[in-house]
This record gives sequence, C-alpha cells and structure tokens, in this order.
Amino acid sequence: MPKVTFQQTGTVIELENNSPLIDIEDQKNNELPFGCRNAACGTCAIDVIYGMENLTPKNEEEIDLLNILDMDGEKRRLACQCILHGDITIEPMN
Ligand code: FES
Repeated sequence: MPKVTFQQTGTVIELENNSPLIDIEDQKNNELPFGCRNAACGTCAIDVIYGMENLTPKNEEEIDLLNILDMDGEKRRLACQCILHGDITIEPMN
C-alpha cells in the first residue's frame, strides 16, 4: 500500500492504492486539514516533497484555485483533488 509521509513530523500513513488523499481523514490524522473538499478554499494545500509522479495530475479546478490564491508552483497541490498511486512525502501549508 502507498505510504504518505509527513516530512516535518515523520508520521507515516498507509492508504489503499488509487485512494483519494482525503482518505487520510479516516486515519484520525489531524496533520492535514480539509475544508470544502472541492477545490474552493485552499485549506488542504500541501507541498509534495517527494513522489509528485505518484499523484494524479492537477485538474482545472485545482489549477484555478492555486492561481487565485497565488499558491501555484511545481510542488504545490490541493490534497482534496489528489489520487494516490505510490509513496509520497508532503508538507501541509496550513
Ligand atoms: S479542502 Fe478546500 S480546497 Fe481542498
């Protein structure tokens, strides 16, 4: 199963392959906050330190909000829009 590692704390969470990253909520982990769950608020913004290739590409809604929030960048993602295909290391922005 793919692992999600929080860079700052070292917490490691395993999710099923092809799981939405938002499933982290089911693991009782509060290191990655979610708000709207719909690419509208930016609460779930993360930097992907390793493993960007193991997430689905950005969709239009994600790109639009990151631009509006002036949070665009190669590493920046909205966790609520990502599907996990392999190991990643992340750093939450909020
Ligand atoms: S939870 Fe609001 S943008 Fe992801």
